[in-house]
Amino acid sequence: MIKKYWPYLLIAFLVVIQFFQIDKTPPSSDANLDFFKLENPPTEVAKLIKGACYDCHSNETTFPAYTSFQPLGWWVRSHVRGGRMNFNLSEWGSYNADKQRLTLEEMAEVTGNKRMPLKSYGWMHEKGKLSDNDRAAMVSWFRAAKR
Ligand code: HEC
Repeated sequence: MIKKYWPYLLIAFLVVIQFFQIDKTPPSSDANLDFFKLENPPTEVAKLIKGACYDCHSNETTFPAYTSFQPLGWWVRSHVRGGRMNFNLSEWGSYNADKQRLTLEEMAEVTGNKRMPLKSYGWMHEKGKLSDNDRAAMVSWFRAAKR
């Protein structure tokens, strides 16, 4: 009997979870603590970092329209939460020198070995698709910025 009803159960489930929307309000942040303001990367590199990293690793997240459909929104929200928890570029100025140094080193590493941005990010974001040249430019700037 359950066999016959499962499509209806699935639809009912999808309808019910739409009532549990994600919170897209950006956390408040102090512009003086922002990574770009403090580290001042060249425009080209800044554009790459902004396009490929800021959605998950800063408070300046743009949530695409499909995140209003659950469970897609929950899935994206979990990436943003995980990204900000690791490091939040909107709060860069509040990190001590050790944390900044370590983070720049890790940013160089995961950009170079293509661990970041998360692969799924590239499915829906053109700017998340970095060429080898883009990556090389980012890595050498991250290394140069490292104190
Ligand atoms: C779609 C969201 C998303 C984007 C875009 C993204 N990250 Fe991440 N990042 C995460 C999440 C989630 C984690 C923590 C969980 C994990 O490691 O997979 C993380 C972890 C990290 C870490 C911690 C070290 C590690 O290996 O876990 C570094 C460094 C990092 N990201 C750098 C970057 C850089 C640099 C970019 C841009 C080139 C970027 N990320 C883009 C979501 C993202």
